[in-house]
Amino acid sequence: MPELDLPQRQATDTLMLTGFWYRVLSADRVQRNQLHKVTLLETPLVLGRDRLGKPFALRDSCPHRGMPLNGGKFDGENLECPYHGWQYDVHNGQCQLIPSLTADQHMKIDRIYAGNYACEEQDGFLWVFIPDPGPPGAGFTERTEPREPVPEIAKFSDRYKLAYLQAEMPVSIDHGIIGLMDPAHGPFVHQAWWWRTQKSIHEKKKDFEPIPNGFRMSAHTPSSNSAPYRLLRLYAEADSITTTIDFVLPNIRTETIRAGKYWFSSLTTVTPITRNHCRIDVVAAWNLFRWIPFGPELLKFVFAKFVEQDRRTMEIQAEGLKHNPHLMLIDDADRPAKWYFQLKAAHLEAKRTGGEMKHPMAGPVTLKWRS
Ligand code: FES
Ligand SMILES: [Fe+2]
Repeated sequence: MPELDLPQRQATDTLMLTGFWYRVLSADRVQRNQLHKVTLLETPLVLGRDRLGKPFALRDSCPHRGMPLNGGKFDGENLECPYHGWQYDVHNGQCQLIPSLTADQHMKIDRIYAGNYACEEQDGFLWVFIPDPGPPGAGFTERTEPREPVPEIAKFSDRYKLAYLQAEMPVSIDHGIIGLMDPAHGPFVHQAWWWRTQKSIHEKKKDFEPIPNGFRMSAHTPSSNSAPYRLLRLYAEADSITTTIDFVLPNIRTETIRAGKYWFSSLTTVTPITRNHCRIDVVAAWNLFRWIPFGPELLKFVFAKFVEQDRRTMEIQAEGLKHNPHLMLIDDADRPAKWYFQLKAAHLEAKRTGGEMKHPMAGPVTLKWRS
């Protein structure tokens, strides 16, 4: 007997997870000796690159009296607060100078730190590690180093193309993420003659399996009712095309398509900016269509269309969400959304108790829906 759950009422929780890497800005926007003011998980940051081009991220707040540092003087190495001129090393935040101290005042200024974050460049983006909130007394502490490396796009050959797309959405991270993994909105939001229409709705069956911190839609042959995939099969002269889609906490969706020697991968993140605002970044790498001059543009066009449709939809949804409606998640189409909330809860519980995270999925599951 198929399980027929009652629709589950669920209030979204806008909690943002700390202890992870987050995408912050596309790398090409950040030049040497320049300062950028950004917000990530409601945290004000100042971002830049030193003289050698190495990126850094500091909390945009002077530990002395809270002055934003983004308006300060930056010499490519140290950043000077515009209020009283305290200077900080941009890479470790350590205080280098307090101009008001007299020669006989021996304050240990090297014990003072501006809030600072691990910051790295990967696949065309700057990423910042947002640690768990520190103990009181921060201002005198060195930063927490991330345990995990920065997420990286899977690549299957030395030569490939890279492109990215970005859209801001006026909804919480949770709505951004469940909107991204929701299979049932496709025929209604993403209609296009070259993709699919409402008439092409049919029953789908997909296998899912648990993976650490997330779940995977197991390798499968993509939807036969979409023209691009039919084209791809022809072009790659491949007997089989397989797609694997993973979601892992806190906000990462990866998709890998392989067709013979050709491949396409993407790493999409939904980044919480504030509680009611998130940003979606799709970064894709591929060796498909390399010899077709308009290939990348075509791909970008298709993707841009999708992302814009999602953005527009969420913008309108945000109007409805203003009135704090109860929400419901149904089986099976909203099961991935339920897993997301359960994963998040399990992660937080494991953190609270210090124990192992209890994965919400006991094993592989097959979901069915029409789309
Ligand atoms: S507030 Fe920054 S030096 Fe005083
Ligand atoms: Fe979508």
